[in-house]
Amino acid sequence: MRFFDRLFYKTRKFYDDDFDWDNYTSSSYARQLNKIGKDHQMIANIDELSFDELKGTVTTGHPPLHENALAIFELIGQLRPKTVHEVGCGGGDHLGNGLTLFPDIIFSGGDRSETQLALLRKRHPQLLNRVILQDLTMPFSNKWPQVELVYSQAVLMHIHTAVSHFVAFANMINQSTKYVVLMENYQCHNFVEEAKALFAGGHTNWPKMNIYRFFGSHGARVILLSQEDLNYPTLTSDAQIRDGLKTSKRRLKRGQEDFDRASFGKSVEN
Ligand SMILES: C[S@@+](CC[C@H](N)C(=O)[O-])C[C@H]1O[C@@H](n2cnc3c(N)ncnc32)[C@H](O)[C@@H]1O
Repeated sequence: MRFFDRLFYKTRKFYDDDFDWDNYTSSSYARQLNKIGKDHQMIANIDELSFDELKGTVTTGHPPLHENALAIFELIGQLRPKTVHEVGCGGGDHLGNGLTLFPDIIFSGGDRSETQLALLRKRHPQLLNRVILQDLTMPFSNKWPQVELVYSQAVLMHIHTAVSHFVAFANMINQSTKYVVLMENYQCHNFVEEAKALFAGGHTNWPKMNIYRFFGSHGARVILLSQEDLNYPTLTSDAQIRDGLKTSKRRLKRGQEDFDRASFGKSVEN
């Protein structure tokens, strides 16, 4: 390597997530909230949300909650876990709305950003004791709550530093005793291929992994990992979950590069 290249390489900050999470709250989050808040309700009142047990659908007020959140809630309503944890819960609106909709379920959340959690405490004081500081790209901690269902919404899609999104993904799986729900931009990583490779490589503590797709009645789609056999369409490839979505070559390429950096566990006999 040439001298200047070497110098540049050594001083380079090896950090490639979409945001600097330390500044995210002040630099981007308020803008995101405003953008979503234009057409969608952020925090629903108790009389605006209901789950229809027969249809498995959620009814929302006007303006509606975002279809992504509604798809997560419909799946939660259908699966009925006793405990649910949101990783990268940010300002906590999904947790707050989830608790409004399903008061019998124990919701918890984690985020790596202190400022996001401070915002959550302001927006949802009822969640005060239900959230933890949790960096999902750290090695697994047995202090994190073990729950039946773990979900993320717009978190893994933004993590691109080295192989840390694999760590985050495996941690989500290992934190859950039944289900993992991903509501992400499915072009940003090869989530289906990665779930299979993490499982086959021994990076999860699950005895079995089924991968399903779920389409919410309001239009959004979800990847569901389950230890149990369930009656949802099986997902075998990333092409299936991307089918019909507008894709960007740049994002797909970056996701593939992220995948290619990984090496998965193998036994010595292999
Ligand atoms: C785009 S925001 C989404 C927030 C929330 N899920 C929502 O949909 O409103 C991404 C969130 O993930 C959090 N995050 C990013 N990397 C994380 C990590 N390694 N561990 C835990 N949280 C993380 C950020 O702090 C931020 O709150």
